[in-house]
Amino acid sequence: MTEKRENWGSRFGFLMAAAGSAVGLGNIWRFPYLTGENGGGAFIVIYLFCVFLIGLCIMTAEFAVGRRSGLAAVGAYKSYSKNWTFAGALGVLSGFFIMGFYPVVGGWALAYIAKSFTGLLAVPEAIGDVFGAFIGAPAEPLVWMIIYLVINVLIVARGVAGGIEKAGKILMPTLFVLLIFIIFRSVTLPGSSAGLEFLFKPDFSKVNGQTFLAALGQAFFSLSLGMGCMITYGSYLNKEEKLPSNAFIVTAMDTGVALMAGVAMFPAMFAFGMEPAAGPGLVFVVLPTVFAQMGAAGPILSGFFFLLLCIAALTSSVSLLEVVVAYLIDQHKMPRKKAVYISSAIMSVMCILSSLSLGVMSGATFLGVGAFDFFDILTDKIFLAIGGMLLAIFVGWFMKKEDLKDELTNGGTVEFGLFEVWYNITKYVIPVAIAIVAFAGITAIQQKGLMIFGLLIIAVLAVFSKKL
Ligand code: PHE
Repeated sequence: MTEKRENWGSRFGFLMAAAGSAVGLGNIWRFPYLTGENGGGAFIVIYLFCVFLIGLCIMTAEFAVGRRSGLAAVGAYKSYSKNWTFAGALGVLSGFFIMGFYPVVGGWALAYIAKSFTGLLAVPEAIGDVFGAFIGAPAEPLVWMIIYLVINVLIVARGVAGGIEKAGKILMPTLFVLLIFIIFRSVTLPGSSAGLEFLFKPDFSKVNGQTFLAALGQAFFSLSLGMGCMITYGSYLNKEEKLPSNAFIVTAMDTGVALMAGVAMFPAMFAFGMEPAAGPGLVFVVLPTVFAQMGAAGPILSGFFFLLLCIAALTSSVSLLEVVVAYLIDQHKMPRKKAVYISSAIMSVMCILSSLSLGVMSGATFLGVGAFDFFDILTDKIFLAIGGMLLAIFVGWFMKKEDLKDELTNGGTVEFGLFEVWYNITKYVIPVAIAIVAFAGITAIQQKGLMIFGLLIIAVLAVFSKKL
């Protein structure tokens, strides 16, 4: 099996793919609105702390586990001990569930490219209604979601180097260029400096315990950690690559794009006197409104912006699909194409339910939530956090320290001066920090039935996953 295992074609290709996974809706949609809701600059300072202390260590650990085993999430844990299979299985299930709603939002972004260019978002007052009517419609969002999912299928079916890597190499640089263009327009608007001040002048009086939890949770989601995604990508890395520096570059790029998204949005919002704490509607409602007030260039900029959002989402959902596909290839010897078709077929059914749950099927709930919220809450609030904690415990307390050192220094041929620091943070600090986040996050879930259901899934996996 090992001789046939796929590999990245180049270091740049791997970096673009891994950064592509990290940079997604989390950066461009979620990060700015969380920043807006949590007081701006102070949230950013705490977020940076979480990213570079905890996120970077976990990413380094995921790369090490993946490359050491040469296997994707389930296989990597399983090759150590069958008792750990469930941690990998939980990751695959997380990827599967996130793919139950992420393509729906990806489809919205796709639709908004078309709506921008065709002038449907040109009337500022109507944009809120346009969004509400669009996501609640029975057929239109489904069509866009299916198109979005088909693009994913086409990329992942082509494999690691030919599909995922090639797409990342084209899409990620495009994203940077578009973002810089929009930033330039945003910061040159009259009155935009208030937005920059909001972002970069920390006001710590707004900080409380919840701010830390929001920042740490966001760091995990944004860096694609806690579900075996970076284990899987690490498993395709060749032995010459330096893991710590690659992890640093991916982390820095992800954080850079999040900050850039903030700089692209807040100055424009402040210039037009809009609310920074607008919440999840920020991207699809507030931004088009801002664009619509920019005159003739508005629709074009708006179209570019949603193209950018779509690109970011695409390179992330491709990595989510790959986690599931890699599991089927590694553990069930399934041919790649078949694995892609089967998993995406199931995902499309979940996405149809998710999309309809925001409109015609909003009455149909399970444990108090519709399908969209079901997949979202289970993964974001329960599975990712627990997955991340399990990984830190696995690496810190079960893997051999010498093996980790060997992997992170490429068999002693390259320096990793911070090894001890990394090891101790991963072993002692991270499990405790995540335990606090997970506990606070999970107990704060309002739908208690759903919370218990999520924990039950983990328990069932822990008991039955040895056969996977
Ligand atoms: N990091 C991605 C984003 O920011 C989401 C994601 C999470 C992708 C987990 C893969 C794994 O949108």
